[in-house]
Parts: sequence; C-alpha cells; structure tokens
Amino acid sequence: QDEKRELKEKIRRLLKEKNAVLVAHYYVDSDLQDLAEETGGCVSDSLEMARFGRDHEAKTLVVSGVKFMGETAKILSPEKTILMPDLDATCSLDLGCDAEEFAAFCDSHPDRTVVVYANTSAAVKARADWMVTSSVGLDIVAELHAQGKKILWAPDKHLGSYIQKQTGADMLLWQGSCLVHDEFKGVELEVLKEQYPLAKVLVHPESPAGVVALADVVGSTSQLIKAAVELDATQFIVATDNGILHKMQLAAPNKQFIVAPTAGNSATCKSCAHCPWMAMNGLRNLLQVLETGENQIQVDSETATKAKIAIDRMLDFAA
Ligand code: 13P
Ligand code: SF4
Repeated sequence: QDEKRELKEKIRRLLKEKNAVLVAHYYVDSDLQDLAEETGGCVSDSLEMARFGRDHEAKTLVVSGVKFMGETAKILSPEKTILMPDLDATCSLDLGCDAEEFAAFCDSHPDRTVVVYANTSAAVKARADWMVTSSVGLDIVAELHAQGKKILWAPDKHLGSYIQKQTGADMLLWQGSCLVHDEFKGVELEVLKEQYPLAKVLVHPESPAGVVALADVVGSTSQLIKAAVELDATQFIVATDNGILHKMQLAAPNKQFIVAPTAGNSATCKSCAHCPWMAMNGLRNLLQVLETGENQIQVDSETATKAKIAIDRMLDFAA
C-alpha cells in the first residue's frame, strides 16, 4: 500500500510537471482509472478517449489502454507526444487483421464502402472509408445502408453480424474476434439467468450471437455503464471485460454486478473476462514512461493522413 501511494504521488507530480494528461480505458487497472479521473484526465470508451485526447490542451497524452488507442490519439494530434505504459499492449482484433491481406480483400471488392472497427492498426484504417467504435458503429452502418451502400466490414465478426442483423445492411465480414469476448457462453449464461431471474444482462457487442441474444442492453462500455445506472434493477450480469466493474460499482454502489460465464474460470483461463493486453498497464510502467519519455507512439505521416480521414468521418458523425 505504501509503495502504491508513493507511485501515485510521483505520477501526479510528473503529470503536472510535464503538462501531461492520462487517458484511460475502463478495462485497465482500477488504480489507473482512479488516477486518470482525479488528475483531470479521462476514463472512458474508445470514442470518448479519441475525442478527449484530440480536444485536450496538454502537450503529452499518456494513453492507458492498447496500441490502437495510442495510434488513434497520435493520428488526431500529431503535434502531441503520445506515451503508452507498454508498447506491446495490443489487441487480438488488430493482430488478426494484417494490413496487406486486408488491402487485398478490399481490392477484390471495390464496390463496397470499407468500414473498420477502431480496434485495428493505423495501416488498416488508412485503407478504410470509415472508422467506427462500438458506440456509433450501428448508427453509421444504418446511415450508409440507407444511402444504398454495400459494406465491407472488418475485423470483428461478432460486432459485424450484430450490426448486420440490426440494420439489414449488405455486409461482407472479415472473420476476426476478440479473445476476451469470444469466451462468453450463451448456454451457461442462460443457466445463470435462471439463478438470477431479476438480473438485467448487459453485453458488449464483441460477444458471440448466442450471448447477444440474451442481452437486455447491447452497447459500448460507456453505454453499458449508463445502463447499469439508469435501469431499474439491482442485479446485473455483465458480458465484457471485468475491468468495467470498477466503474460500474462506483457509478451504482447499491447494485450487484456479476461477470457472465466464460469457457473456463479465471484459474484456468488467463484471458477469461480480462484482456491480457489491457492488463499490461500498471502504475510502475506508467511512472517509468513519465520519467523517461520512453514508449512514444509514432505513426508515419502518409498512413496517418489517410487514416485520419476515416476517423474524422466518425467524429463528425458523432458530434
Ligand atoms: P469500447 O469502445 O466499447 O470501450 O470497446 C473497446 C474495446 O474493445 C476495448 O478493448
Ligand atoms: Fe482487443 Fe478484446 Fe482486448 Fe478489447 S478486450 S483490447 S477487443 S483483445
């Protein structure tokens, strides 16, 4: 505890000294989330992280999350220094969508509007017409569908097929998945629902269709937290990374949150309900990058310029 307090104190001091601000995702360690909030940074979903980073006047953003979040911050603010506690913190969706293979896929379907999820590399975004996050993907595809556009979607197959079902759009899907959400199981969730008949089920749309089908609310991390506060229920079953429970519990202290069942339990399954890459963010490596200025995110300017077009379209749409 003493060590933690000391680390936090040093981080607070360095953030001030270096005119830096902490931008954290809901899945990272609760100490980092609390620090971000208390020092004037933000803790939020991918859309809000991008917007907050772009609009903040700090010279340095320390992005506590995974690589695509740091890259998006750099693309939106090339003049800022973007630091990340661990540059190896990536995402299975990003890893599963190689930029060259993706470009070849797009080349073979030139008649389709290319919509990619935020959880991709800068190079994949550079090949896209639109980038979306889970909070606005459905609305954007609905709009493109209304305009008569056919969609090429990548990389998350579960989010893609959820949007396809909801909008009726013609969507060709890349077959990627999130290794955390892919582990949530519909059959086991049904059993749990029987044990907690009054509980509402909150599901992130990166989860498989059998889990989404049992949801009372499907949405981005921010939307799920909002639902936890606003819904008239005292028990919730939550199908997303368990890092979110920290904020949910703070936002709705009198409610009970239960993590949805996964294939294994936490003793046998390292990535069950917790992202191994988000878990790479900690107080120690956060302090280290602030002290040394190491772990800067760089995106080459040609890629960044192209990727920014796809990101700006989403931000303009969501404004
Ligand atoms: P949100 O945009 O809903 O926060 O989800 C992003 C995500 O998958 C982070 O891993
Ligand atoms: Fe990627 Fe899934 Fe981790 Fe989010 S939780 S960063 S989608 S692997």
